Amino acid sequence: MIATTPVIVFSSCTDACRHVAAEISQLIRERETLGLPTVLGLATGGTPIPLYQELIRLHREEGLSFRNVTTFNLDEYLGLDRDHPESYWSFMHRNLFDHVDILPSNVHLPSGIVSPSEIPAHCQAYEDAIASAGGIDFQILGIGRTGHIGFNEPGTPADARTQKIHLDPITRQDAAPSFGGLDKVPTEAITMGCGTILDARRIALLAWGDKKASIVKAALEGPITNEVSASFLRNHPNATFILDAEAASSLSQ
Ligand code: F6R
Repeated sequence: MIATTPVIVFSSCTDACRHVAAEISQLIRERETLGLPTVLGLATGGTPIPLYQELIRLHREEGLSFRNVTTFNLDEYLGLDRDHPESYWSFMHRNLFDHVDILPSNVHLPSGIVSPSEIPAHCQAYEDAIASAGGIDFQILGIGRTGHIGFNEPGTPADARTQKIHLDPITRQDAAPSFGGLDKVPTEAITMGCGTILDARRIALLAWGDKKASIVKAALEGPITNEVSASFLRNHPNATFILDAEAASSLSQ
C-alpha cells in the first residue's frame, strides 16, 4: 500500500526541526493573539532534542514565549522518581523546560512512582487533565524500532487510553546504554494510549537516521496494524511524517 499520509523529507534533522519549530511557534503566537492557550503533546528520546534546541533558540532570540503553553508528555518509566537522571521528568526539564518561560504548573507528565493500586486512577486523571486543558493542539512523536508511538508496543489497540504497559525487549535494549546496562532499565511505563494520541488535532512524527528506515517504511507502506502502532497515524486527518533522508531511504516513493 502506498502512503497517503503527508511525508516531508529534509536533508538534515536540523532543517527538519527548524520547520517543525516554526509551525509550533506560529501556532503558539496565533493562539496567543486570540487569547487562547496552546496545548503541546511532547516526546522524549534522542529524536526531539534538536527540536527542543530550536524552540529554546526561538525563545531566547525571537521572543517566543511559553507562558501560554501547557504540555503533556507521552510517557514516564514506572519505578523512577522525578529526580532520577533517566526519568522523563528530568529529561524534559534538562532539555526544554528549564530554558524557557513555561509555568511549572502547566507541565504534565505521568508519575513514575504511583503505587500499583493507584495506577488506573492516575491514568484516568491524566486523561481528564488533557480533556480539561481542551485537548492536544500539536503532538510531537518519535518512533521506536518496534513501531511504538509513546510506549504503545506491538499489540496495543488503536483506541487504547493512558495506561500501564510492559516495555518490549527491543525498547529496553535501546534504552540500556543511557541507563548503564539492561538490568537497570525499567520493565514498565505509563503511556498515553494510541487513542489519546490520535485525538490530537495535529501530529508530527519525527524520525532520523537509517536505523529508523525499515520501521518508517512499515508504518507508512505496510498494513495498518496494531503490530506497528505508528501505522495508525495513517487514519489521522492531520498527521505528517517528518524525516531526514536516511530515515526515508527505504520508502518506495
Ligand atoms: C518517548 C517515546 C518514544 C520515543 C521512541 C523513539 O517519549 O514515547 O516513543 O519517541 O522510542 O526514541 P528515540 O527518539 O530515542 O529514537
